[in-house]
Amino acid sequence: MVKSLENTAKQILDSNYQEKGFTIPCKGLYPFQWKWDSGFIAIGYAHYDTDKAKSEIKTLLDAQWSNGFLPHIIFHNESDTYFPGPEFYQINLNPYATKKYKTTGLTQPPVTGFVLEKMYEIVEDKSDMLDFIKSIIDKVYLNHLYFYQNRDPKNEGLVYIYHNWESGTDNSPIWDEIWDTMDSPNYEFERRDTDHVDASQRPTNIEYNNYLYLVDIAKKCHYDDEKIAESSPFLVQDPLFNAMLIKSNEALINLYKIIGGNEDKIQQLEKWQNKSIKSFNDKLYDEELEAYIHYDMKNEKAIKLITSSSFTPLFAKIPSKQRAEKLINTLVTKFGKSDMYLCASFDPTSEKYNPKKYWRGPVWININWILYYGLHNYVYKELADRLKNDTFELIKKVGFFEYFDARKSEYTKNITGYGGANFSWSAALYIDLIKN
Ligand code: DGY
Repeated sequence: MVKSLENTAKQILDSNYQEKGFTIPCKGLYPFQWKWDSGFIAIGYAHYDTDKAKSEIKTLLDAQWSNGFLPHIIFHNESDTYFPGPEFYQINLNPYATKKYKTTGLTQPPVTGFVLEKMYEIVEDKSDMLDFIKSIIDKVYLNHLYFYQNRDPKNEGLVYIYHNWESGTDNSPIWDEIWDTMDSPNYEFERRDTDHVDASQRPTNIEYNNYLYLVDIAKKCHYDDEKIAESSPFLVQDPLFNAMLIKSNEALINLYKIIGGNEDKIQQLEKWQNKSIKSFNDKLYDEELEAYIHYDMKNEKAIKLITSSSFTPLFAKIPSKQRAEKLINTLVTKFGKSDMYLCASFDPTSEKYNPKKYWRGPVWININWILYYGLHNYVYKELADRLKNDTFELIKKVGFFEYFDARKSEYTKNITGYGGANFSWSAALYIDLIKN
């Protein structure tokens, strides 16, 4: 059984792999290369096809802008199954934009650093992988430099995102209050996502108006971060995003140490690291909720809601032992009732919880994977095992979907998973988890 699921996972990755050397997240719904997807996908490949793992990262980094920015989608090919496409983004407005590829002007969580470290840990031929890492690691460093120089206007060690699509948690209830402050125009557009997935599982049209408006504002700023920080109504310090950056800082330090030399870069990364971890704990932890939260820089207020992102700092060893204990208690009491699979993407005790709608409630495999390793960092082995077994059970029951209902009772009915089927990162991270 386990073997055949592993084979299915590999088949999914291989069939989503494209001739140009990257892997689509899933057919129809996401027909290009996505930044954080590529990272998780490379981890899966590292277990059985290192050439593909390397090529996944190489194609991603090849689209880097000259200021270090890494775009969230690389439109390697034409496709009429996705909206909004490259013509909407017009990245040529920005002087640093790549001329080689069509891309968006948004980014996604900075996972690439820790992905490289994981790839190095997984493969047998360390020296071959180290040669590869040597050839590209400075690009990842440059990406971190970009973040600290351009996305941290108050010099806090915490970087902002200016779009919900940058968070990766696209339609989370976290953003709802920000949408209320905006008066987005009614765009005329033809959505393509709802051709592939039931609309009840996707964001609403009103939300899409906001999403498009934020891109339009960024375009008016020619994708200049300073101008965006002044004029965008959406400016958020996101715990998931910053935790991924911190974890990747640590990975770059470790890798540079293995490579040797590079003292200046190691020192700089350590400086960022100390400052970021301190600010993260000072600013993004809510004593009352006993959880990490998002901070709305535009309206200068903490967003007091708990999501699965609230627990991801465990992965980057951000909380102290004592704080981790409280955080994990919040995780268990709110998200871990015995009739629920871990880990819902949004607080199941909140009235904003929606068990079917994308990032408003369903379980996501990449977050489970992050939490699994996060719990291990603090030696919560039993809970980590539960998280892994829940992940396996969901996949066993319905297959490698994009996201899953967290309510166990639903699976006595004839339900499937949600969103796209044969989803690459669900397959890739399953492969990593079973090897663990
Ligand atoms: C989408 O189109 O839903 C993507 O998540 C944007 O990156």
